[in-house]
Amino acid sequence: MPEFQEKSPVRGREQLTPDVCRLTLHAPKIAEHARPGQFVMVRAGATLDPLLRRPFSIHKATGDGLVTILFKVIGKGTRLLAAASESTEIDLIGPLGRGFDTTVAGPHCLIGGGMGIAPLYFLAERLMRAGRQAANPPVLLGAQTQAELMLLAEEFTELGYAVLTATDDGTIGHHGFVTELLDDILQEVQQVYVCGPMPMMRTVALKCRAAGTACQVSLETHMACGLGACLGCTYPASGGGYLHVCKDGPVLAAEEVAWTL
Ligand SMILES: Cc1cc2nc3c(=O)[nH]c(=O)nc-3n(C[C@H](O)[C@H](O)[C@H](O)COP(=O)(O)OP(=O)(O)OC[C@H]3O[C@@H](n4cnc5c(N)ncnc54)[C@H](O)[C@@H]3O)c2cc1C
Ligand code: FES
Repeated sequence: MPEFQEKSPVRGREQLTPDVCRLTLHAPKIAEHARPGQFVMVRAGATLDPLLRRPFSIHKATGDGLVTILFKVIGKGTRLLAAASESTEIDLIGPLGRGFDTTVAGPHCLIGGGMGIAPLYFLAERLMRAGRQAANPPVLLGAQTQAELMLLAEEFTELGYAVLTATDDGTIGHHGFVTELLDDILQEVQQVYVCGPMPMMRTVALKCRAAGTACQVSLETHMACGLGACLGCTYPASGGGYLHVCKDGPVLAAEEVAWTL
């Protein structure tokens, strides 16, 4: 898979909540080659602090050369990125890693928790564009509060998805875990795509295994290089040994993963 390094001017910045931000960048080569589930390694500031690039899922990639990332501010790198203004140039390397297999036939369901929703929008858009989907496939979105979900839920609806939501505080949708919404629809789907916190993905993987439903998960580990060089992103594999999430993943079949958390 081709990888590119692009100095990418910011073309759009949206503040979805006080700590969730969306940046749209002009990175034409990455946009052209990106597949849903892949990620970019982002240089977060203009200086050597922070030294390491930060990984972010590709949230959108469009034909006009734009790549969008959606992120929550949790530390120095994301704080610097959130402070970027239009025309700031941000250095990206990508598209990286193994994305979702979108060729699977049959009804599907998407499940996203927190910032795990980011790669699912790109996936949803490509699945719909491929035109092999039944009308209104379900997407289950979980977040801490209503504010994190509102715009994203609207955008999935515009794509033609039936959106079901869950929030930790009950401000919208189901009051509780998004995984609890899966039980009612699991029998109707043949493929589940999930991205979110590890305990959530583990729960989904185990439910899918019990139901005999295929499940693809997008793992998140600490990544120093994102390129297969530092071996810092390992996670135990079900067959023994370790997966290198940046190269073997981040998207994996759920049965490839030893769910140790
Ligand atoms: C493949 C991949 C895709 C990602 N996609 C997104 C995305 O679309 N949106 C988004 O908001 N975030 C995403 N992340 C997580 C994102 O990379 C981190 O939030 C970011 O690197 C934090 O940088 P920072 O400098 O702000 O925080 P730091 O100062 O580096 O870290 C702040 C705190 O968060 C913890 N932390 C940092 N990174 C991770 C991690 N990967 N897993 C668990 N804990 C971590 C640190 O241990 C520390 O306690 C992704 C991670 C991976 C591996
Ligand atoms: S992040 Fe360096 S090998 Fe995966």
